[in-house]
Amino acid sequence: SEGRHVRRTAYHFQPAKNWQNDPNGPMYYNGMYHFFYQYNPHGALWDIGNLSWGHSVSGDLVNWAALDTAIDPTAPFDINGCWSGSATILRGGTPAILYTGIDANKEQVQNLAFPKNPADPLLREWHKPSYNPVIPLPADVPGDKFRDPSTAWLGRDGLWRIAVSAEVSGVASTLVYRSADFVHWERNDAPLHSSRAAGMVECPDLFPVKAHGEEGGLDTSASGAGVSHVLKLSVMDTLQDYYMVGRYDDAADAFVPAEPERGDDVRNWRRFDYGHVYAAKSFFDARRNRRVLWAWANESDSQADDVARGWSGVQTVPRKLWLDKDGKQLRQWPIEEIETLRRKRVGLRRNTMLSAGAMNEIVGIAEAQADVEVAFRIPSLEEAEALDSNWLLDPQKLCGEKGASVPGGVGPFGLIVMASGDLQEHTAVFFRVFRHDDKYKVLMCTDLTRSSARAGVYKPPYGGFVDIDIEERKTIKLRTLVDHSVVESYGAEGRACITARVYPEHVETSNSHMFVFNNGTDKVKVTKLEAWELAAATVNVGDEGLIVS
Ligand code: FRU
Repeated sequence: SEGRHVRRTAYHFQPAKNWQNDPNGPMYYNGMYHFFYQYNPHGALWDIGNLSWGHSVSGDLVNWAALDTAIDPTAPFDINGCWSGSATILRGGTPAILYTGIDANKEQVQNLAFPKNPADPLLREWHKPSYNPVIPLPADVPGDKFRDPSTAWLGRDGLWRIAVSAEVSGVASTLVYRSADFVHWERNDAPLHSSRAAGMVECPDLFPVKAHGEEGGLDTSASGAGVSHVLKLSVMDTLQDYYMVGRYDDAADAFVPAEPERGDDVRNWRRFDYGHVYAAKSFFDARRNRRVLWAWANESDSQADDVARGWSGVQTVPRKLWLDKDGKQLRQWPIEEIETLRRKRVGLRRNTMLSAGAMNEIVGIAEAQADVEVAFRIPSLEEAEALDSNWLLDPQKLCGEKGASVPGGVGPFGLIVMASGDLQEHTAVFFRVFRHDDKYKVLMCTDLTRSSARAGVYKPPYGGFVDIDIEERKTIKLRTLVDHSVVESYGAEGRACITARVYPEHVETSNSHMFVFNNGTDKVKVTKLEAWELAAATVNVGDEGLIVS
């Protein structure tokens, strides 16, 4: 068999080859999960005119079988590319896809597609009615700034709504369109959101969550008592996703933010992930009654590397998503099906104390495919370093200045993964606790500056503040998924996530090492540590991936 590339992930979603970007139209239909994605069938780079919808199906969101592309640029309304969009399960139970086409005039329009045969359990073929586009380019929107229709939701008036990104008379806007029949769409005068501050936004997602900290998900059309909404937007300027929790009013089609003090500049909203992901999209998983989020993690090496490998881009593991009790912040956790890949397990003795400078190796598993869960107990916050208010605005910079190798008071402590035997290469995922105005602030970082000896790779420190009261809880948990070129971390039970792409050189010739460490003067206790080697999932290779249940 063909050798797998040393960077190729073993359980993150990838097509067998070529370029992928945004997650498109994820859905659960008729006992099967469908995942579509922006795909260039002709090569390993994004190519403006050559985007199709790749299509895979799964019984468990972990193992995937690749099908033929579902939507290709073949008609006047999409001949120059089939860009991002979403799936909706219609009232009769059949799915529909809305997507952006780049038409014969190179203008962005919104198109509709249906399964050719809704009884086909795999929904292999999709039909694009000739009456497309269903939403032509509006007169006040430039031809290159009108895209990414969301999953539709029903208002109490029985009309469908979708959100679409557009620049309207120079203002970045999230428009709402309404329809009675899913074919004829009318624009609401007021946008759901608009701002002059950040430039064009993309890939809007508006979805309901349970308002009181319960983990169960809601159908996209859910509304009423006990329901909050989340508006997520992707900002081209920073290539980052941001969200705001709020109240959605289906009479006015307006969104009232729960944190108005963050303003309309989306770049000041909250982040799903402080690392390298973009264009996230969620869906309601009716089988397991949860909301699941997908996001694209691009490569961080060069285009020449992409071409040499023959592929580019992965998806994060699907994440369960819910609203924290605080009503403002989302929590995320890898879907539990990932745990079916857990094989050999190793641990550390319970209550291992890590003194200043401690580095305990976690031995016994192949580290390139691993799942580590660790709980740190902080006996004393006495030595916490003082934090200047200026730093609150730039946690990423703080992670750079106060890296894993810079000794602190409480922390840095955490994991070192993908380390070469001589530690010249390593990736550090860690926490550091600061004192600020009689309160404590917890910083979470993934520091890539030493992740690879190679030049020409993007190796920033990533980071954000974790919204917990460490004084009261005294414990902070970390879960890190390692998958060859991905280090995906969940801090404080999913309150802060950092996804990073790593390209260590040593893996060409030797194994990686993993450590738990403390580089603060205050002791830290590892109350529990479990690490599993993960089996490779079947992702778009052969046809064993297909689990029909
Ligand atoms: C986001 C995006 C979308 C667009 C797609 C094209 O990454 O730019 O706005 O529909 O990618 O591939």
